[in-house]
Amino acid sequence: MNKTIIITGGAGFIGSHVVRLFVEKYPEYRIVNLDGLTYAGNMENLKDLESQSNYLFEKGDIVDAAFIENIFKKYTPDAVIHLAAESHVDRSILDPLAFIHTNIIGTVNLLNACRTGWKDNFEGKLFYHISTDEVYGSLGADGLFTETTAYDPRSPYSASKASSDHLVRAYLHTYKLPVVLSNCSNNYGPNQFPEKLIPLAINNIKNMQPIPIYGKGENIRDWLYVGDHATAIDLIYNNGKVGETYNIGGLNEWKNIDLIKMLCEIMDNRLDRQAGTSAGLIEFVKDRAGHDMRYAIDASKIKRELDWEPTVTFREGLEKTVDWYLANQQWLDNVLSGDYSKYYDQQYKKR
Ligand code: NAD
Ligand code: DAU
Repeated sequence: MNKTIIITGGAGFIGSHVVRLFVEKYPEYRIVNLDGLTYAGNMENLKDLESQSNYLFEKGDIVDAAFIENIFKKYTPDAVIHLAAESHVDRSILDPLAFIHTNIIGTVNLLNACRTGWKDNFEGKLFYHISTDEVYGSLGADGLFTETTAYDPRSPYSASKASSDHLVRAYLHTYKLPVVLSNCSNNYGPNQFPEKLIPLAINNIKNMQPIPIYGKGENIRDWLYVGDHATAIDLIYNNGKVGETYNIGGLNEWKNIDLIKMLCEIMDNRLDRQAGTSAGLIEFVKDRAGHDMRYAIDASKIKRELDWEPTVTFREGLEKTVDWYLANQQWLDNVLSGDYSKYYDQQYKKR
C-alpha cells in the first residue's frame, strides 16, 4: 500500500460513493473509512467492499479528540478527505448544537490531528474539506455563486459549515497546513437518507403518502448526481491546487414543485399507475424557517482548471435513483426503522 487516505463520513450518502470510487480505482492505496455511524451512517452502503483488502472501517466520533489522535497514530495517513457532518437543514433547525459539535469541533479535531500527526512536516500531505454551496446564502432570481462570493450562511447547518470552512482556511494561513476545499450544490442519487427531498418523496409516493412541499414549492436548487460529485472529488484530490476552493454544481436548476412533478411522472410510469396518480399526493405545507430561495453554482473554475463537468442528465439521474430505491426495499426498511418515524412526526405532523 503506497498511500493511506482517511475518508470521514464514508458510511453516509456521498461518502459511500467516494469510498467506493477510491477503493476500486486505487487498489494500491489503503482507504480507511472513519465514521461514527449516526442515524445517517449505514454499513449497508458499503457491504460490497467488506472483502476488499485495501478497505478498512473505523467506528468513532470526530468530536472525540483522543480517538482521532489515536487513529492518526495507528494509520499515519497521507491525506484526509473530510465528509463527516450533520447534514440536514431541518434537523439543524430542531437541534443546532449537534451541528456545532460535529461540524465545527469535529473538523478542528481533525485539523489538530493533522498538525500533531504530521509533526508540522506537510510534504506530500493533504487535508481536503468537503463543503456546501449553502455557505454563500441565498440568491434572488439572477446570479450564481462563485468561489469569491461572500459567505452569508442563514441556517444553523450552513453557519456550522461556513465556520468549518473558515477554520480550514485559518489552518492553511496560520500553520501552513496543506488544504483544499470544495463547495457543492444539492446531491441526489442512491443511498441518500430519506429525510432529504428526493428520497423522502420517492418513499412517500411509493407508499401513497402525502408529499410535503414547503411553502409554494418555488424555491430553487441546483441538482447534481452523486456519482458526478464523487468524480469531482477524485479530480480535486489529485489535481486541485493547495489553498484553493472549487465550486461544484449541476448546471441544473429546478423549482421544487417542477422537480416533484417530474419525479411523480417517473414514479407513475415505474409503478404502472395511471398518469397523475402520484402528483395527486402533493401537499403544500408550512414553509421551512428561514428557507433559502435559490442556490445555483458557477462551476466554470473546475471546468476550466480540472476539465470537470456533470455527465448525468437530471431525467437519467432521477430514473436511476427511483430504480435504485424500488430495487432496495430492504435498505429502506432498515433506515426507516429506528428513529425515523419519531423524526418524521416531529418534522411534519403539525405542518
Ligand atoms: P450524510 O448525512 O448522508 O452522511 C454523514 C456521515 O457522517 C454519516 O455516515 C454519519 O454517520 C457521519 N457522521 C456524522 N457525525 C459524525 C461524527 N460526529 N463523527 C463521525 N462521523 C459522523 O451526509 P452527506 O449528504 O453524504 O454529506 C456529506 C458531506 O457533504 C457533508 O459534509 C455535507 O455538508 C457535504 N455536502 C452535502 C451535500 C448534499 O446535497 N447532501 C451537498 C454539498 C455538500
Ligand atoms: O445545497 C447543498 C445542500 O443541499 C447540502 O449542503 C445539504 O447537506 C443538503 O441537505 C441539501 O440541503 P437542502 O436543504 O437544499 O436539501 P433538502 O433535500 O432538505 O431540501 C431541498 C429543497 O426541498 C429545499 O428547498 C427544501 C425543500 N423541501 C425539503 C423537504 C425535506 C420540501 O419542500 N419538503 C421537504 O419535505
